[in-house]
Amino acid sequence: MKTDQKRWDKRFGRKEFALGKEPNPLLKRHIHLLPKGRALDVATGEGRNAVFMAQNGFEVDAVDISEKGLKKARKLAQEKRVKINTFLVDLDRFHIEKERYDLVANFYFLKRRLIPRIKKGLRKGGKVIFETYLLEHRTLGTGGPKQAKYFLKPNEPLRLFRNFRILFYREGIFNEGGRRKAVASLIAEKI
Ligand SMILES: C[S@@+](CC[C@H](N)C(=O)[O-])C[C@H]1O[C@@H](n2cnc3c(N)ncnc32)[C@H](O)[C@@H]1O
Repeated sequence: MKTDQKRWDKRFGRKEFALGKEPNPLLKRHIHLLPKGRALDVATGEGRNAVFMAQNGFEVDAVDISEKGLKKARKLAQEKRVKINTFLVDLDRFHIEKERYDLVANFYFLKRRLIPRIKKGLRKGGKVIFETYLLEHRTLGTGGPKQAKYFLKPNEPLRLFRNFRILFYREGIFNEGGRRKAVASLIAEKI
């Protein structure tokens, strides 16, 4: 078993939802602009965003390496009376079928080698919604990952999605859920 899997299974093994049941605010704010259809939530965790997308009419595939997380995602879906498809996968190896998705959500999980696969997996006109920590976050002392490779450099998402149409972009320090976070947020369309 991978170290990541062990760590996240431990975190998600508790009864309470470690990352909460509420969707990410960026997703909530922009859901009406996102193309309805088939969505992929990469590294879904306990499914807060996958379930929200399902509540908004998407057919959602939710993938993660933590079975404990996926179990809670299914529980949350049941609680909200929606259906999501969960898959236990290692995103280091996961193959995304070409042009399968209308929407890919990538929240708080940075795997740069996954980006080309996300791009291929989107249909033309499909959108990606992406948010994670910036390097500055490390100076805030409000939690988050430890290793430098999990943090974005300034403008990095713009470079990662340079061949997409950028519909929304911001970087900064924001107060979310009573916690200060330095993050970059992007919504972009495959052209
Ligand atoms: C910070 S959580 C984010 C969860 C979710 N996206 C959210 O915003 O609520 C990071 C997630 O990445 C998953 N993860 C870590 N390494 C992974 C890998 N190699 N393959 C698939 N998932 C992985 C963890 O299990 C965890 O659920």
